Amino acid sequence: MSKIALGILISGRGSNMEAIIKACQANQINATVNVVISDKRDAKGIEIAKQLGITTFVLDIKDFSSKQEYEDDICRILKGCSVQLLCLAGYMKIVGETILEAFKHRVINIHPSLLPAFKGLNAQKQALDYGVSFAGCSVHYVDDVLDGGPLILQDIVAVSAEDTEETLSEKILEKEHSLYPRAIQKVLESLSIK
Ligand code: GRF
Repeated sequence: MSKIALGILISGRGSNMEAIIKACQANQINATVNVVISDKRDAKGIEIAKQLGITTFVLDIKDFSSKQEYEDDICRILKGCSVQLLCLAGYMKIVGETILEAFKHRVINIHPSLLPAFKGLNAQKQALDYGVSFAGCSVHYVDDVLDGGPLILQDIVAVSAEDTEETLSEKILEKEHSLYPRAIQKVLESLSIK
């Protein structure tokens, strides 16, 4: 059975990226991570990816004359690495039309809320401030609306009265690490690449 080639875009810690790479390496999903690209030189995730034997690149948008040229270079790397599905994992830039056109319906993202609630930054704090009893995380297709594309999978956590932004974020992150690989497998199945 052939494996689907993943590319991952990160900006920081890279714990979801690590969970995806490890799920691939443990054959829990029929995929392989061909490349990790960070837009930040100091992203911790880049070191983790290297240690796990993954090809990495850092592309700083400041080195390009436009976002389109920056994204053209990302697409060149992804295509050069034969990437079929692009996973955003803590990538802090809005994906532009250059990438979305090159990977139509093949870009997915994880967000730490039960979308469509609490889009954008600090989703866990937004949930606490709103007083929810349940929070969670969502993996969704990326389109031109921020955190707005069709949902693939979600998971929930109960919010307790003692929860702070930190404790809730930790609880959600733990769920994210199992949700993202399961969501990728679901996408592969819908693509008939099992
Ligand atoms: C996660 O909470 C993810 O949902 C959000 O950014 C965070 C990234 O964390 N999009 P990490 O870099 O995967 O550790």
